[in-house]
Amino acid sequence: MPRAPLILGLESSCDDTAAAVLRGPGDAPAILSSVVSSQTDLHAAFGGVVPEIAARAHTEKLDLMVEQALAEAGAALTDIDAIAVTSGPGLIGGVLAGVMAAKGLAMGAGKPLIGVNHLAGHALTPRLTDGAAFPYLMLLVSGGHCQFLRVDGPETFRRLGGTIDDAPGEAFDKVARILGLPQPGGPSVQAEARAGDATRFALPRPLMDRPGCDLSFSGLKTAVIRTRDQLTEAQGGLTPQDRADLCAAFQAAAADVLAGKSARALAACQGLTAFAVAGGVAANQSLRARLTTVAEAASVPFLAPPLSLCTDNAAMIAYAGLLAFEAGRRDDMTLSARPRWPLDRAAKPLIGSGRKGAKA
Ligand code: KG4
Ligand code: ZN
Repeated sequence: MPRAPLILGLESSCDDTAAAVLRGPGDAPAILSSVVSSQTDLHAAFGGVVPEIAARAHTEKLDLMVEQALAEAGAALTDIDAIAVTSGPGLIGGVLAGVMAAKGLAMGAGKPLIGVNHLAGHALTPRLTDGAAFPYLMLLVSGGHCQFLRVDGPETFRRLGGTIDDAPGEAFDKVARILGLPQPGGPSVQAEARAGDATRFALPRPLMDRPGCDLSFSGLKTAVIRTRDQLTEAQGGLTPQDRADLCAAFQAAAADVLAGKSARALAACQGLTAFAVAGGVAANQSLRARLTTVAEAASVPFLAPPLSLCTDNAAMIAYAGLLAFEAGRRDDMTLSARPRWPLDRAAKPLIGSGRKGAKA
């Protein structure tokens, strides 16, 4: 029996520099190591990811992450069967840094190189963590992404809808900033919302009145600004209760829209084996509860991979690379970095490009 392939994965498309070693086969994978160096502190003062700073930090950290991932896996570069790297979509400087590092390693060690779509990495994660069978529906909700994907195979995806402006994580972060709460905004808003009354302020449910699975979050954020301004004008500022009520109202509106559109996406698909979620916003407890109910109503299991594999990581890139490797796909030194790279080429382009780079 041939030895199970060993794949080294690299990820640097946004603000996390990551490397991982994964052992195949694709239907029984084992993560031997997965290390991530976050750049959150470097960008904190700027209110968003600064592409130049991100690219430089990736270049500095990629070698270290690869060394650490190999050491933790107890493997040498010579043991690796292929090198998988995120070659898009994302911030061009970061993607380039990863692709160049992977090319250097592949050429130096004489190993095959495989370019991986970052979104495919997220979309295939439920298979890596839970062995989800095709087809399943995936909702990707993070600070950089928001889309529904029907996953039919390792390289076959159908996008049913996505955000036309901000990603939900971006909206949580902006609402936190508007209300003077710490970043990242998602956990702050969630914590404030616990003491709040979600019914006090009537916030909009954007695009719910239109058919389809597209989403929009920028109007919701504007409605929060307007409410804050009205309160400030009327009473000279916000009380802690106002803040909690506004957070609760925003969180309920975001969860309503995501749950409502998820129900539509599930209804639009046949024969699904599961409904899975990924991305940092999937950590939100009220959203999780709503999505669990939606999955139950559609009679499919709800899968939420552990948070370390929901957010950006290289194990998912190694896994997508492993499936491509098993299918015989290889890239060469002409592999290029693609800032935009929609998984579903037939779907209409998404409008939003966001503070974390292209959304598709
Ligand atoms: O997937 P992720 O770690 O990074 C990228 O977007 O690349 O997602 C980060 C986003 C941030 O916008 C953060 O505010 C949001 O996920 N987030 C949350 C929660 N925890 C993190 N949003 C809502 N509720 C949470 N509990
Ligand atoms: Zn991502």
